[in-house]
Amino acid sequence: MALITVKDLALAYEGHVVASDITFEVNEGDYLCIIGENGSGKTTLMKALLGLMKIHSGSITFGDGLSQTQIGYMPQRTDIQKDFPASCKEVVLSGTLGNGKFRPFYSKADKQRAQKNIELLGIESFQNRSFQDLSGGQQQRVLLARALCATEKLILLDEPVTGLDPLVTAEMYSIIKELNEKHGITVIMISHDIAGAIDAASHVLHLHHKPLFFGKKQDYLLADVGKDFLGGEAK
Ligand SMILES: Nc1ncnc2c1ncn2[C@@H]1O[C@H](COP(=O)(O)OP(=O)(O)OP(=O)(O)O)[C@@H](O)[C@H]1O
Ligand SMILES: [Mg+2]
Repeated sequence: MALITVKDLALAYEGHVVASDITFEVNEGDYLCIIGENGSGKTTLMKALLGLMKIHSGSITFGDGLSQTQIGYMPQRTDIQKDFPASCKEVVLSGTLGNGKFRPFYSKADKQRAQKNIELLGIESFQNRSFQDLSGGQQQRVLLARALCATEKLILLDEPVTGLDPLVTAEMYSIIKELNEKHGITVIMISHDIAGAIDAASHVLHLHHKPLFFGKKQDYLLADVGKDFLGGEAK
């Protein structure tokens, strides 16, 4: 069984459908890249996968031992997050609270988990600095470490390279690729930087295009929708 199976899903805000006919599945070890124009429902889809919004119709099923509370999530960057008044260490540690259980303090296991991800993302040198004083690329690495504290299986990344320069973007992609290939973490990533983003991807889901495209990256590159959208940028 797949980790996630989405069938004929439609999502709506107050009865107004913003995305529909979404069907795809994610298997262990996959690296799915979600692309689509602004407002096509990419972030909304991630929120539905996380159970943060009600399904209008269709279904989302979890399998292979995955439960909805075991998903790591790196949200689309907002101004609020940029000014988060806490140390990097605290931001990373707060990721361990994502399992829905109420706990008034962090356990030793939480702290060890945070430290492990701080090391994995190579952010030890600035872990005690204030999050809001870091560069965009450093902040993104802290937020990725935070998301990893919630999961060992599946991570959702909403535009992880937005606002980063080309060098830091490449660095971020290489970290994500390593998480997928070396650490066996399944990745679902939204990105506008299509050519760069799908380089390491195994599958592509293209929203907003009717019929919606879902399939292996190689097939996307050969399909008309892929050719049109990439405009010769494909690698
Ligand atoms: N809280 C909300 N209430 C009502 N409508 C919303 C809400 N959030 C998003 N929408 C609408 O739903 C649609 C899909 O939004 P969503 O944020 O999922 O798009 P997106 O594909 O992530 O876009 P972007 O590339 O700009 O991040 C848009 O038309 C948006 O205006
Ligand atoms: Mg979005």
